[in-house]
Amino acid sequence: MTAEVRRAAGARGGAADPPRLVALIPAAGGGSRFGSALPKQYADLGGRPLLLRTMERLAAALELDATAVALAPDDVFYDSVVGPRDGVDALRCGGASRAESVANALAALGSRCGDDDWVLVHDAARPCVPVDALRRLVFELADDAVGGLLAVPVADTLKREDRETPARILRTEDRSGLWCAQTPQMFRYGVLRAAFARPGALAATDEAQAVEALAATGACSRPWLVTGSALNIKVTYPGDLALAAAILAAQENAA
Ligand code: CTP
Ligand code: MG
Repeated sequence: MTAEVRRAAGARGGAADPPRLVALIPAAGGGSRFGSALPKQYADLGGRPLLLRTMERLAAALELDATAVALAPDDVFYDSVVGPRDGVDALRCGGASRAESVANALAALGSRCGDDDWVLVHDAARPCVPVDALRRLVFELADDAVGGLLAVPVADTLKREDRETPARILRTEDRSGLWCAQTPQMFRYGVLRAAFARPGALAATDEAQAVEALAATGACSRPWLVTGSALNIKVTYPGDLALAAAILAAQENAA
């Protein structure tokens, strides 16, 4: 989708004040699949904590008005591993799931965000998101009333497993039109608050899913897919750390 198509589909009138852009970084997970005593957001990634790499990537690419980091209430690492940073609010509002952490942080941002302001939700665990993908997301959604997310078209052939005979193929699925969701996911603050206020919203595995459910009621239009990057990996398993380090090194060499 081009920015022109988006504008035609969801153009807004000119507001008096430009909307603010606030980054919200959920970093309250325990990293059970990563499996280290130090939660993965604090793991060493080329000499710096992973969470700090993610914060610096967003700050380098975008003109952010503020950054909020959602931490677990009992986090004992942030103050020593990352520490105070200009323009960054550490919110000890994490919940039992990513959706809860995001919903709690949105509530905490209430006094600082207007309905039209943009909230860019980005996993702490995605430190390699390319600068050009970040700028594309913000540029392409700028005039939209709702928002959208970075995503990449599914590249692999998809096999459906036969549940009755595990590991045996039932059929090949049509991958056309299927995308893998990434973060950032950028939505108007008012849209996100309304989406997360709905029953069942905390079962959503990303912000877009909560907004899709809101859109199904007719309250807003559906989110947009904006082309992301295969380099925007999520550090999930221990081996992902070396891959992230290699991607960052290649990005730094190319810069
Ligand atoms: N997250 C969060 N609050 C939670 C769970 C996750 O803020 N209750 C954050 C993580 O810190 C991470 C992002 O959401 O930055 C994506 O989650 P994921 O990669 O699944 O991280 P974890 O939940 O920490 O890992 P795991 O699922 O392996 O336990
Ligand atoms: Mg998780």
